[in-house]
Amino acid sequence: MNHPNDILGDDAVLSLRGVSKKIGGKKIVDQLSFDVHEGEVVGLLGPNGAGKTTTIRMIAGLIQMSEGDVFVRGSSIRHEWKKAIRHIGAIIENPEFYPYMTGYDNLKQYQRMNEWISNDRIDEVVRLVGLEQAMKKKVKAYSLGMRQRLGIAQALLHQPSVLILDEPTNGLDPAGIREMRDYLKTIAREEGISILVSSHLLLEMEQLCSRVVVIQDGKLVTVRSIGENHAPSNEEKNFVRVMFRVGRLEEAKNVLDSQERAEIVQVAEEQSELLVALRYKDIPDIVAALGAARIPIYQVTEIKQSLEDEFLKWTGGNRIA
Ligand SMILES: Nc1ncnc2c1ncn2[C@@H]1O[C@H](COP(=O)(O)OP(=O)(O)O)[C@@H](O)[C@H]1O
Ligand SMILES: [Mg+2]
Repeated sequence: MNHPNDILGDDAVLSLRGVSKKIGGKKIVDQLSFDVHEGEVVGLLGPNGAGKTTTIRMIAGLIQMSEGDVFVRGSSIRHEWKKAIRHIGAIIENPEFYPYMTGYDNLKQYQRMNEWISNDRIDEVVRLVGLEQAMKKKVKAYSLGMRQRLGIAQALLHQPSVLILDEPTNGLDPAGIREMRDYLKTIAREEGISILVSSHLLLEMEQLCSRVVVIQDGKLVTVRSIGENHAPSNEEKNFVRVMFRVGRLEEAKNVLDSQERAEIVQVAEEQSELLVALRYKDIPDIVAALGAARIPIYQVTEIKQSLEDEFLKWTGGNRIA
């Protein structure tokens, strides 16, 4: 496909480039850059106060950036606001509706302000969010989950390229959360739309997203592929953490310190164990080096880190999940 801005590369629908927000001298969002590609569901993950809402408000053009820019299908939010915003459907905080009007009349009201939206499109989005049976009910009788889905339906009416949702499962019960997740997956698949969704819950992100952008204190911590379809990157495949249980711990430390290809990550003196980060292919050489120094090796075990451990590490021990 042809994209207007080739320097942004491949199939990025949404690109943040060095986006910062300063309020009262404090950088709330600090040099944030990441991409969302065609048809992808990406999570913006971070603990409360990390800067998720501020980032999303800037992407949606609701507040100004202090630095950087956001490109939507190649159009700059700063310089081509109208063109860029046309491709975005967003729900920030709670969507507002007329409570005494039916769900259908609320969508019709939105259509009156955007006359090119067809009645067929209304039916289509209503089906996508599973509100067919609720269209004749007044919105005041809707559950929170139904209201959220009506908001999503409204955000989809103008056929955006990317749907942006700020903590859409906040306040929902477990059944509602599950339902929301299923609808979002269906929407991504059937509309071929990209979704950027924020959350402070790792588990939720793992079940919904193929990639997460982790932020903390307004800064990018890491971008990771996750979820069911996650194939580990080469880097992840090659590097392992291996626990060596040895006799003569101090000598073993010296041997490992002299090896460029191994890094001691942790020492457990009482167990006489060393946790070492190294490439998988270097394990035999490291074992041989220890053997050459006549260090007794009692155990060599790969230590797999859970994703949750990693997240705790990325965010400096702040609880996310
Ligand atoms: N208008 C504002 N004025 C001052 N501080 C703000 C303002 N908006 C957000 N903040 C601060 O910026 C940080 C990030 O907020 P926010 O984007 O809401 O984080 P999140 O959505 O990840 O919880 C918080 O410390 C918050 O208190
Ligand atoms: Mg928030």
